[in-house]
Amino acid sequence: LPLYAVFGNPIAHSKSPQIHSGFAEQLQDPVRYETRLAPVDDLSGHWHAFLEEGGRGANVTVPFKEQAIALADRLSERARQAGAVNTLVVSDSGEVVGDNTDGAGLLLDLERLGAPLIGARILMLGAGGAVRGVLKPLLEVGPSELVVANRTVEKAIGLAELFKAYGQIRGCGFEDIEGRFDLVINATSASLSGDLPPLPETLFNEQALAYDMMYGAALTVFLEWAHTHGVRCADGLGMLVGQAAEAWYQWRGTRPDTTPILEAMRADLR
Ligand code: ATR
Repeated sequence: LPLYAVFGNPIAHSKSPQIHSGFAEQLQDPVRYETRLAPVDDLSGHWHAFLEEGGRGANVTVPFKEQAIALADRLSERARQAGAVNTLVVSDSGEVVGDNTDGAGLLLDLERLGAPLIGARILMLGAGGAVRGVLKPLLEVGPSELVVANRTVEKAIGLAELFKAYGQIRGCGFEDIEGRFDLVINATSASLSGDLPPLPETLFNEQALAYDMMYGAALTVFLEWAHTHGVRCADGLGMLVGQAAEAWYQWRGTRPDTTPILEAMRADLR
């Protein structure tokens, strides 16, 4: 069977094997998909051993998304834009292409949710690696404005500068957030420590969607807060499945239906 894997550290709790087995079963295209625990200082050694075994492609997760750039012979444009690789594709000729499917995965999920996008005011909270990969695809769907707000203001301003060619984008601090938004995406890791960025009470428009890139059995602190403001909430489990679906497409050329996989994963979380 064609061999694929996800590289990370830690990796034991990765949901990628379950997602890709689901795709394989759904599309009746059996593959072998494994987890590979690489030491933080030797991704390269483990990747090359994997290639020796006949590996055809891989997902790359924390903390290797930047390091994985060096494994590729060539980067896709979106990986270059993101400054990170989450998917490696081995071509028939053996060329290794570094790709990034996080932005496509988010967009896939936002479309599934019927999120306000075209002409919408979108607020992105955070300015880390996760954000950099999604700004271009978000701008390309044509929001009226995309505001990036971050604790460290310079990082938000820097990202806005980097992506201004693709649409109306502005960087600021949390205290400078003005007006109401149709879509608010939390990409800060504040939830991990149970923190909530200092947000104005008048953040949401009537039909707004609050989206958190994180997920878990319980609502994140951000989604709990959004819920008390009466808006629709969604977590990042759909983005996880979406980025996997886009990786699968790069490897196998077919597009899985993410909905049944997402439903099964959701049931498992509870
Ligand atoms: P990722 O790759 O997941 O984006 P990252 O690059 O470490 O991770 O970025 C984490 C993001 O969460 C950053 O925007 C960070 O803000 P700073 O740039 O100011 O560090 C944000 N973040 C982390 N903890 C936070 C907290 N307690 N409150 C607000 N923002 C926080």
